[in-house]
Parts: sequence; C-alpha cells; structure tokens
Amino acid sequence: MEFSINLAAPEKAQAECLVLTVSGKKLPSGLAKLDAASNGWLSALLASGELGEKAGSVLTSHLPGTQTPNDNKLQKLVLLQTGKEVDAAGARKLADVIAKTLVGGKLASAAVWLGGIKDVATDALTAAISQAIVFESYRFTAFKSEPEPASSLARVDYLIAKKADTEAAEAGLARGLAVGHGMNFTRELANLPPNACTPTYLAEEAVKLARHYGMKSTVLDTPELEALGMGSFLSVAKGSVQPPKLITLEYRGGSKTGKPVALVGKGITFDSGGISLKPGEGMDEMKYDMGGAAAVLGTFRAVAELGLPINLVGVIATCENMPAGNASKPGDIVKSMAGTTIEILNTDAEGRLILCDALTYTARFEPEVVIDLATLTGACIIALGHVASGLYANDDGLADALLAAAGNTGDKAWRLPLWDDYQEQLKSNFADVANIGGRPAGSVTAACFLARFTKNYTWAHLDIAGTAWKSGAAKGATGRPVPLLVEYLVQRSVKKAKK
Ligand code: BES
Ligand code: MN
Ligand code: ZN
Repeated sequence: MEFSINLAAPEKAQAECLVLTVSGKKLPSGLAKLDAASNGWLSALLASGELGEKAGSVLTSHLPGTQTPNDNKLQKLVLLQTGKEVDAAGARKLADVIAKTLVGGKLASAAVWLGGIKDVATDALTAAISQAIVFESYRFTAFKSEPEPASSLARVDYLIAKKADTEAAEAGLARGLAVGHGMNFTRELANLPPNACTPTYLAEEAVKLARHYGMKSTVLDTPELEALGMGSFLSVAKGSVQPPKLITLEYRGGSKTGKPVALVGKGITFDSGGISLKPGEGMDEMKYDMGGAAAVLGTFRAVAELGLPINLVGVIATCENMPAGNASKPGDIVKSMAGTTIEILNTDAEGRLILCDALTYTARFEPEVVIDLATLTGACIIALGHVASGLYANDDGLADALLAAAGNTGDKAWRLPLWDDYQEQLKSNFADVANIGGRPAGSVTAACFLARFTKNYTWAHLDIAGTAWKSGAAKGATGRPVPLLVEYLVQRSVKKAKK
C-alpha cells in the first residue's frame, strides 16, 4: 500500500473516495469550494442531520455523477463526525473508524482531509490513521486453502492545507507505518500454530530480520546454554523434543559508546504446563506464550524501519514447556546462571524460570535499562483484565516514562508494586527460592521472583498475559505492547537529542 502527503485542497482530491472530517452539522470552512462544486449538495447533506452528532458516526454517499468536482475520479464521500472536541484518544478512535471504512470499502484509492480536526497535532493524526490502516489490513492467511481476498485499498493520500505541516505529517506517517508493520509482524509470529512457530523457527525469523536491516544476531544452542550455566532455562526445555534457543539481536543506531536499551522476551512457543499439566480447555491459546518474544521482534522491526538514533539489544529465551519422562518434576531443584537455586514447585510457572537466566545474561551488554515482556501470569488477567498490561519497575523514572508512553499510545499499562513484603511468599525450605508464591498476588510474586535477578541494573517488567492476544470469536494476537515500546524509544531518542 502506498501513502502520501499532499498539499492539496479537498476539491482537488485525486482518489475514488474522499474522507471528510466534520464537527456537528456545519460545513467546515475548508470545504466551501467543494460545496460550491457540488452546487450546495454537501452542505445540504450535512444540514440534513443524517450523519448524526456522535463522534465516530459515518455517512458514506456516492457523489451525484453530474456534480463530481473537476473531472477527477472522485466517486464517494465518507463523512466522519468528530464530535465537538477531539483529544489524542478520540483521534485514535476516529482513525480506527477511518481504517475500518477504507480497508473494508472495496476501493483502490482514498484521500483523507484532516482539516476538520483542529485540536490534535498533524503528526499524531497521520500516525494514528496510518497505523490503523496497516493494522486493519492484516489477515492471517498462511493456513487457509481459500483465504478471504486482501483489501483492494492500494493508495491513501493525506490532504493538508498548510505547507508548514508537511514535515510533521510525513514524520507521523513514517511512525504510524513502522508501528503498524511492527505490530503485524508480532501478530503473524504469535498467530502461527505451535507446530510451525517452534523455537528454531523463531530463531530463523530473528536472523532473517537482522539480515534484512543489517543488524547483528546470534543464536545459542543447548551446549552453549549449558556452558553458561543456564540450568533454570534448560530445565524447562528438557521435556520437549524441540531444542531451546537463546536469541540476541543488536541494533546500533546510536553513538558508538552509547549504552543500549535491552528488551528481553519470553518465548514459550507452547506452554502445556509441563508435568503440572494445564486443563485442556483453551490450551491452544498457549501458543501465544511467546507473545513477549514476538513483541521484541516487532519492536526491532519498527525501530529499524524508522532508523531511530538509539542502541537496542534484544534477548529472547525460547523453548517449549512439555510433559515427558525427562521433564522437570514438582520438587526438582535447579541452579540458575546467577547461582541461585530454585525449587520448582509447579512446572507451569516456567516463564520466570527461562527469564531469570535471560535477564542474568543480558547484563553483559551493560544496558542502561532492561525491559522484559512476558505473558507471565493468569493472575495479571484477574487483576487488570485485557485492558492494561501489568507494569513493574525497580526505578520510578523508568516506570513513569513507560506509563507516559502507554498514555500517549492508548497501549495501556498500570503499575503494580514490587515491595519486599511479597518476597516471603517465595520462601523455599530446600532451595534459595521457590518458583511460585501461592494464589495471593500471583502477578506480583512472579515479578518479585524476576526482581531477584535484576538488582544490578535499571529494570522494568511488563506482564502482557491479558493484552498480547484476544480470545473468543475474534481470537488473534493484538501486536501489543509494540506501540508502547516504540513510543518509549522514540521519546527517549528525542530526549537524548535535546541533551
Ligand atoms: N503462560 C502462563 C500464564 C498465562 C496463563 C498467560 C493464561 C495467559 C493466560 C504461565 O506460564 C503460567 O502458566 N502461569 C501460572 C503460574 C502459576 C502456576 C503460579 C498461572 O498463571 O496460572
Ligand atoms: Mn505456564
Ligand atoms: Zn507460560
């Protein structure tokens, strides 16, 4: 799909369909010429009230043939009600409406006139709409014999009124596309069935991505993981015939000596629970237990596409969690790379067992901050539902920056505590720590377990168990928290540039 920014009046739109943003029943000032070209038909249509006054209402109308302005190919008008005032969150909702209307609209080209929204910055508008159109265009077709046809939409022009807005409009467009592409990459990896998206497949995809953007990648196999002393990670992998992989990616867009941000992802390509087997119902959804790993890769894709001036490291621990004669048993004690011994009281609490070793390994990159992403606990869904990701951090500045990014993007997160009081629940009679802390505050105790391995750097943890995918009729990966992470990294690079 092609996108462009055009310094052009709406009556000059060169597209099949023109989207007009309007507030109330009034003809916006920028549309006087278009109205005149249609002999007042447009203002009459608005005055009729058929559009409705509720933000997000849409009225689609074919232009009466004789009244088509110029002799361009404009055939259809989409009137979009913005309501009285539009804020950033409102603009994202309007962007979703535009995307759904255009992507499902059986047309090849569309022009979008942004002049009806005055209160939201131009870059925020082109970013939100572009991201929404890319997101909406995604289909999972890999395993359909007769996939539904892709959207016919091939071109979108943004019509802007002021030359001074061009740069902002272009910047927003680039950001929206990159985030949309990153989200769709994350969604595709996560939606793939677990017999296709194995740890080996994830590693291959990471290497491919790295090659495409000129990034460095490494993949460590079992012997190397053994040599590193990753007894905790390996204990999860050993019940599966699929070999585990530790994937690292390095993007260097910043200064030579600049310390990187590190993203660490949980990549359980299928979580059966292991010997502490999960109930059968809905177990297929445990293919999504690599959502953290997929979000790391999607974020790398977006950052590389934008060429952000930052250094970024990605570390993904990936394996299956399966029951087998040689699988971990409840009661087993394993030794992590950090030297901490862990009593495995429940083999289904495997995410923290692979992450603790990945987090210990990450220290070698001397990161300025580390953020891990994990579909870690069902308890996080009980606490926050499917609206917000659970955020934990050992640093208030990092937590605030991530919450700000969440607020800016609508990719919501909510901070939960890491107080030492909770550490007591992880006491083991036989090892340094137990891998479960009982039912109370299950998301918190999982984060507290990780906190024991992240004391030497600034760290945040996002529990995305409730936000990485949707269940039910609309089952599918969401691409979250790619928008949050990209926004955090963009803001960070802006701040660094100002320093
Ligand atoms: N991958 C699951 C967490 C999960 C469950 C995410 C359901 C999304 C939906 C994780 O490995 C897990 O099984 N956690 C256990 C921990 C418990 C045994 C302490 C859980 O949440 O039940
Ligand atoms: Mn589990
Ligand atoms: Zn899991």
